[in-house]
Amino acid sequence: MNSRKVKKEDDECVGAVLVVGGGISGMQSALDLAESGFKVYLLDKTPAIGGTMAQLDKTFPTNDCSMCIMAPKLVEVGRHPNIELLTYSELEEIKGSAGHFKVEVRKKARFVDESRCTGCGVCTTKCLVKNIPQIPDVVSIRDRIDAKDLQRYDEIINRYGGEKGALISILQDMNAEFNYLPENALKYTAEELKTPLSQVYHVATFYTAFSLKPRGKHLVKVCVGTACHVRGAQKVLETIQRKLGIKPGETTKDQNFTLETVSCLGACALGPVVVVDNDYHPATVSTINTLFNKYEKSEEGEKS
Ligand code: FES
Repeated sequence: MNSRKVKKEDDECVGAVLVVGGGISGMQSALDLAESGFKVYLLDKTPAIGGTMAQLDKTFPTNDCSMCIMAPKLVEVGRHPNIELLTYSELEEIKGSAGHFKVEVRKKARFVDESRCTGCGVCTTKCLVKNIPQIPDVVSIRDRIDAKDLQRYDEIINRYGGEKGALISILQDMNAEFNYLPENALKYTAEELKTPLSQVYHVATFYTAFSLKPRGKHLVKVCVGTACHVRGAQKVLETIQRKLGIKPGETTKDQNFTLETVSCLGACALGPVVVVDNDYHPATVSTINTLFNKYEKSEEGEKS
């Protein structure tokens, strides 16, 4: 902070103060100084004041809502006649000595007229620079997908009439069809629904029911929630790991089983619970072999 305060005969404060950093401390300092009668320049390198606190939900140690504390100060700073905001600006140089500093500030170019901006955000949807595709002749993912897969993708997408709002249902069907979500399926879905790929990935990675890695034919979920844990879920899990030769999150080499752990399956009274595909099994260490033999035999039956 750099200040110059000259007392005139009528005790009026003159001079100006530069406060560097528009976080909560900077804002409070600016307000205190402005209230004392100084002209204050509040400088921040980001496009808006607020700093890190504006990104927090709660504050330590009282767990108070950050925005509830900040919002009145933001308004006060924005409206105070003695405070001038220099956002999106950086301090380049300070010269002089106490009481007579000279500073050089570099103000970065903005693409909106600050004096007319109301913060409505419409400009981001209308921005010509952002919305014109920058890569000419973008090759469609369609040309790089195997014809058989393409047919399966189309079949699923057409089930929902190519509706953007059906994204979750489409991904559910894709996941059921392929046992996971292939990368090309996600790219193709994004292209067909005219939805950003980032949004498709956001949904695909949000739900644990979706997998981006190939899963085995049978999905084995072992509950390690509290009720199952106290009834020996850990021993059951270890027995299954030994039997299949894989750890949670892995798939057997023959692509038959994928092992996962879950926190509760809503069947605590049956615990410890193991779900294979959609079948719930109350399991103990001694019943694991019988349980898996059933699925292994059904595999052999299908092959013969
Ligand atoms: S804790 Fe396992 S089913 Fe609830």
